[in-house]
Amino acid sequence: MNNKKIPVFDIALGEIEKKYIKDCVDTSFIGQGPYVKKLEEKFSAFVDCKFGITTTSGTTALHLACATIGLKKDDQVLVSSSTNMACPFAIDYCGAIPIPIDIEKDTWQMDVSKIEEKINKKTKAIMVVHLFGHPVDMDPVLKIAKKYNLKIIEDCAESHGVEYKGKKVGSIGDIGAFSFFANKTITCGEGGMVTTNSPELAEKAKSLKNLAYGKTNKFMHDAIGFNYRLPNISAAMGLGQFENIENVFKEKERIYKRYTENLQNIKGVKIPAIRSWVTKYIMWVYNLYLDKEFPISRDELVKVLKENNIDTRDAFVPINMQQVLIDKYKLFNKDDCPNANYIMKNGFYLPSGNTITNDEIDIVCDIIKKVSK
Ligand SMILES: Cc1ncc(COP(=O)(O)O)c(C=O)c1O
Repeated sequence: MNNKKIPVFDIALGEIEKKYIKDCVDTSFIGQGPYVKKLEEKFSAFVDCKFGITTTSGTTALHLACATIGLKKDDQVLVSSSTNMACPFAIDYCGAIPIPIDIEKDTWQMDVSKIEEKINKKTKAIMVVHLFGHPVDMDPVLKIAKKYNLKIIEDCAESHGVEYKGKKVGSIGDIGAFSFFANKTITCGEGGMVTTNSPELAEKAKSLKNLAYGKTNKFMHDAIGFNYRLPNISAAMGLGQFENIENVFKEKERIYKRYTENLQNIKGVKIPAIRSWVTKYIMWVYNLYLDKEFPISRDELVKVLKENNIDTRDAFVPINMQQVLIDKYKLFNKDDCPNANYIMKNGFYLPSGNTITNDEIDIVCDIIKKVSK
């Protein structure tokens, strides 16, 4: 029996964050201020983008990205089914319709071989989601987008710094969206960023995020905009986090390796598969699934871990299973994405906060090993 609680996630904050936040208070720049610009410049450069536009969350970054590429009523967007519902909701906020694409069972990423069959005259964009720190296979996506003249939105909420064939995610498609929520690789508490290399898209995103104030007469607005402005105080936290990002990556690598060493040879335990073309995998959290060879189900194992004070999270309920979306569009059904449904039932993730110790990881794995015998 393990008595000490092992949370599924925790945040490590340091002295730089404290210093920058204190500076915001000392200078009274708590709304808009210099940290916003610094975070935009540094983070966008880090992901090889010329432009970064901060937002209040990953969800608002996705909505801003959708609005910026000009999604309209009844446009269709092809999107990884197994994802956070921020993805289909952001598409819906524009009046457009998310169409779920099934995932690969071993990587949990969008199965790009299933994209083309869902394209029709209403299809306007593909939203790829680089889930759990592993990139989607982008070359085929780029090829399809070119062939059918579709835009590409990259959801990089869980993939800060991840690389596909040497290219940083968020810089590969037309526009990227990052989350800086508390459980993300770096955090502002709440926050997000849109990234792009297109000056036109950057200009439009900047305007839309700030109520599309008029350029000559400020109060004669250029479009129907939003207030998605990230406060300076949140950006200060994000910048402090960003300056420590290489150490965060080291901790993530340690956690990934320790879990993998422990779990790689257990019958029925399927640890994350990493494709050969991934030039930088940065585990967001340690995700895995159980197949038929494991003696008990995912739900039963989660219960055993819970009884031992170990927190876990189940995999996403995919888009094709969301009744509100099925009822609203009547364009897809529950059994449309069998792999996403399989992962929903059998997938979960283990405690992966940066402060988890190797001993704690071993405690988690010892319980899984014991149950597996
Ligand atoms: C893949 C993915 N996209 C989007 C979001 C939404 O981001 P936020 O919570 O910052 O709105 C999340 C989770 O938070 C996510 O995991």
